[in-house]
Amino acid sequence: MADQIEKKGHEIFDGIQLGIGTWSWGDRLYWGYGKGYEETDLKDVFNTSIQRGIRFFDTAEVYGQGRSEKILGKYISESEQQVIVASKFMPFPWRLSRRSLIKALKKSLSRLGLNQLDLYQIHIPLPPVRIETWMEAMAEALQNNLIKAVGVSNFDLSQMQRAVESLRKMGIPLASNQVEYSLINRKIEKNGVLDYCHDQGIKLIAYSPLGLGALTGKYSSRNPMQGFRGSRFSKSYLDQMKPLIDLMKKIGADHGGKTSSQVAINWAIAKGTLPIPGAKNISQAEQNTDVLNWQLTEEEVKRLDAASDTLLMLEK
Ligand SMILES: NC(=O)c1ccc[n+]([C@@H]2O[C@H](COP(=O)([O-])OP(=O)(O)OC[C@H]3O[C@@H](n4cnc5c(N)ncnc54)[C@H](OP(=O)(O)O)[C@@H]3O)[C@@H](O)[C@H]2O)c1
Repeated sequence: MADQIEKKGHEIFDGIQLGIGTWSWGDRLYWGYGKGYEETDLKDVFNTSIQRGIRFFDTAEVYGQGRSEKILGKYISESEQQVIVASKFMPFPWRLSRRSLIKALKKSLSRLGLNQLDLYQIHIPLPPVRIETWMEAMAEALQNNLIKAVGVSNFDLSQMQRAVESLRKMGIPLASNQVEYSLINRKIEKNGVLDYCHDQGIKLIAYSPLGLGALTGKYSSRNPMQGFRGSRFSKSYLDQMKPLIDLMKKIGADHGGKTSSQVAINWAIAKGTLPIPGAKNISQAEQNTDVLNWQLTEEEVKRLDAASDTLLMLEK
């Protein structure tokens, strides 16, 4: 099998420094789709991103129960620009065979209106099916030209190593691991995942790089997040974030009026990862994509790390 298929690894990301995450596209429950933003806003997000050179879009079968894939697919079909599309398979406990991955993949492709995905990721390493079984299913998807590259998501170091080893036996590289990474979540710096990705040439895709909005600087104990997000970020935590947010704003200002969101995204890029911030409207998309023309200095990254360390210590 290994000889007959085109084995794409992290090179699918060549030249890509930034992507767009589309979890909020069509998601009512967590992000409140339809209340404050709707499809016309998302079309603006897509068009603005394309105009500004963004080519990588991340979605998943579970986002908005398929709506995210449908919306993204519609915009891709209306655009002349070729884009790189990543989606994800959720290994629900009732999905017990390799066939279920191929079936789900075909449904994703149909919602997206595509014949092939650039990257297909295991969303979360859930039991009972073994990682090795899902990797065999991924190899079958490659063999059938349904995908170009294999990725995982939310895998820890040992789970990644199992995926890498299992794919290696079939002559296939692991292209990426998509995990939460931001100034308020730096677990991968400590648990070996980031170093392993860098050593092995596996792209680390940083999700929630804006800390689900907490690093944008617009939330505080006086203006907390609503709904599900509100339960993750207590008012006291938002207060504790203030010194970090103030530093981000100061550093942004020193770069000629950049925002804390832009500082958060550029921090993730400076760490050698590929951030995929979400955006709900044109102004968020304009801000988030305007990060590639400037960089943080090493000294600024160190100051941000130190402020984030202080916050993360308080959390314990
Ligand atoms: N693999 C996984 O398990 C997993 C898990 C989570 C996310 N992801 C991926 O990562 C992507 C991004 O993560 P995320 O959406 O969770 O969080 P995020 O990128 O950290 O935050 C996005 C949210 O921040 C706010 N925002 C964005 N840009 C802004 C700006 N410039 N100014 C002010 N507010 C701004 C918006 O929400 P408000 O305006 O409502 O504040 C937006 O929806 C997702 O779309 C998804 O593709 C993957």
